[in-house]
Amino acid sequence: MLDILEFPDPRLRTKAKPVGVFDQALQDLIDAMFATMYAAPGIGLAATQVNVHKQLLVADVSEEKNQPLVLINPKILSREGSQVYQEGCLSVPGIFADVERADRIVVEALDRHGQPLAFAADGLQAVCIQHEMDHLIGKLFVDYLSPLKRELVRKKLEKAHRASA
Ligand code: NI
Repeated sequence: MLDILEFPDPRLRTKAKPVGVFDQALQDLIDAMFATMYAAPGIGLAATQVNVHKQLLVADVSEEKNQPLVLINPKILSREGSQVYQEGCLSVPGIFADVERADRIVVEALDRHGQPLAFAADGLQAVCIQHEMDHLIGKLFVDYLSPLKRELVRKKLEKAHRASA
């Protein structure tokens, strides 16, 4: 299992760099990210969250947890509509808040072997991909909250960290 960085850890603000090498180390990292995500349990995990600053995310929004998705160097080609979903994040444990995002997106990326892929996503999958792609540019879902609410989240997590230290 990989350690997951937690807000307000400044390393979560790092901008990830594109992946250029698809070697065994990358495959091992992807497998470890899936294991960590499924165990958490969560529906998405960005490399940033495990302190690896590469443009890589894993996700699985299926009920049966049998539709693993790997996106490398992802780009959103188009966005349509809007939806509000109550989001959480493995890097912001115990906090849930409504975030407005595009309802339907078209994504282009590379798969785990460097092969190009493009597809449309909507609903929860669209939310998840947008949320995880934010991590790759150092952005967290709490950034969409008001400064006051974000400060309350920060205090709550710091208190939780002290209690568990
Ligand atoms: Ni997250």
